Amino acid sequence: MSLDLLLGLQWGDEGKGKIVDAITSNYDIIARFQGGPNAGHTIEFDGHKHVLHTIPSGIFNDNSINIIGNGVVIDPGIFLKEINGLNKFNIDLNKNLFISKRAHIILPTHKIIDACSEASKGKKKIGSTLKGIGPTYMDKTGRNGIRVGDIIDDSWQSKYDNLKEKHLKLISNFNQKVELSLDQLESEFFEGIECIKSFNLIESENYLNNAIIEGKKILAEGAQGSLLDIDFGTYPYVTSSNTTSAGACSGLGVAPNKIKNIRGIFKAYTTRVGSGPFPTELFDSIGERIRDVGHEYGATTGRDRRCGWLDLVALKYSIQINGVTELNIMKSDVLSSIDKLLVCTSYTIDGEEINFFPYDINSKDVTPNYIEFKGWDQDITNVKNEDDLPDELIEYINYIESFVEVPIKLISVGPDRKQTIYRNK
Ligand code: GDP
Ligand code: IMO
Ligand code: MG
Repeated sequence: MSLDLLLGLQWGDEGKGKIVDAITSNYDIIARFQGGPNAGHTIEFDGHKHVLHTIPSGIFNDNSINIIGNGVVIDPGIFLKEINGLNKFNIDLNKNLFISKRAHIILPTHKIIDACSEASKGKKKIGSTLKGIGPTYMDKTGRNGIRVGDIIDDSWQSKYDNLKEKHLKLISNFNQKVELSLDQLESEFFEGIECIKSFNLIESENYLNNAIIEGKKILAEGAQGSLLDIDFGTYPYVTSSNTTSAGACSGLGVAPNKIKNIRGIFKAYTTRVGSGPFPTELFDSIGERIRDVGHEYGATTGRDRRCGWLDLVALKYSIQINGVTELNIMKSDVLSSIDKLLVCTSYTIDGEEINFFPYDINSKDVTPNYIEFKGWDQDITNVKNEDDLPDELIEYINYIESFVEVPIKLISVGPDRKQTIYRNK
C-alpha cells in the first residue's frame, strides 16, 4: 500500500509540475486532489515547454493513469483548451485520464462573481486568478454546486439554469462593471461540457482504494502552496481549498493511514503572486534580478511574481502542518552570482522575537531576522552530480536541513526534466 504526496510549501509556483513529471515513471497513478485552473504547472522536456492547469502533471508518461480527483474544481472551457493543447503529443487521453464524478464544475457565472467580488474589494482585493475558484467552492460547501456526475443526468440543464439564475441576482447586487461576456463564456463552457462527457467519469475514491489494495503506486499532486491553504495560509489572502496534506485525504477519498512519503517542494528563495503578507519580500534590484533570472511571471495569469529571500520560519511551519518527510529544493541556479544571500530564521513583532508563523501575520508589522550566506559564482545549470555543486550552495542546503530537520533529497538546477540532481542521503 502506498500513496505519496507532493506539495508546494510556500505561496505556490515552487516547481511542482516539473517534479511530478520528473518522477512520474515511479508511479502507476498521478492524482490531483484540490484547486482548479488557478494552478499553472510548467513542464519542460525535449525542447517543449507546457503548462497544465487541471490535468495532472503525469500526463506525459504513457504508462501512468492520471486522475482529476473529487476535490478539484473544473472549468470545462479551460479543460477543453488543455485537451486541445495536448493533441500534438499523441497521448491516448481516453486511456490515461479519468475524472471524478464528484468533482465540482466552475460555471461561467462563478467567474463573473469572482471578478465582481474582487472589484468590490478595491485595495483589499485577494489578487485572485479570477478563475471562479472561490465562488465554486462556496457553492460546494453551501450545497448548491454542480458536480461532474450531474452532466450526464437528464436534469442537468435545469440544474444549470437554476444556479445561473441565482448567480445573476447576486451579480446584479454587486453593482460592479466587469469585462466578461456571459454569452462567450457559455459557448466555451457548453463545448467543454461535451468534451468532459467524452472521458471516463468514475468514482475515483473507489478506483484509488482498489489500486492501493492491488499494490499500485500513487502520487497525489498538490496545487498552490501551504501558505495559500484556506485554514493555515495567510487568510484571507489565500485560495479556497486545503492545499496541505489533509486535503489529499478529503480530495481523493483515501485515508490518512494510506499515506507514505510526503514530499515538500520549495524554492531556494520565496515568491508570491497576488496580495497578502510576505515578510521577506525584496523591493530592490536583487528582487528584480531574481524575477528576471527566475522568469518569475505567473504561469496562469502572466502577472509579476513578488520575490524575496527564503523564509525558514514559514518553511518550518509548512513542514509541520503537512508532516513533510522529504524536501526538494528548486531553482537554486537562480541565486548564482548573488554575492550575499540572506535567510530568515525568526521574526520580530512588537519588539519581541518569535520563531513561529503567527495567526495575525496580516495585520502585524513583521521584521524578518536574517543570517547571511556567501553566494557562488558558478553556473550550475549543467551540473549532474551533487559533488560538482559549489561548496557555498552545499553549505546553504546543509543549513536549511539542520534548521528544519528534514532531509533535502532532490536539488533542481533548471526547468528541464533532466536538470535534476537526486541525492542518496
Ligand atoms: P508549479 O505551479 O509549482 O508547478 O510551478 P510553476 O510552473 O508555476 O513555476 C515554476 C517555474 O520555474 C516554471 O517556469 C518552471 O519551468 C521553472 N522551474 C522549475 N524548476 C526550476 C529550476 O530548478 N530552475 C529554474 N531556473 N527554473 C525552474
Ligand atoms: P500553482 O498550483 C501561485 C493565488 C492567487 C491569489 C490567491 C487566490 O501554480 O502553484 P484564487 O484564484 O485561488 O482565488 O487566488 O491564490 N494562487 C496561486 N499563486 N500559484 C498558484 O497555483 C496559485 N493559485 C492561486 O494569485 O493570490
Ligand atoms: Mg504555478
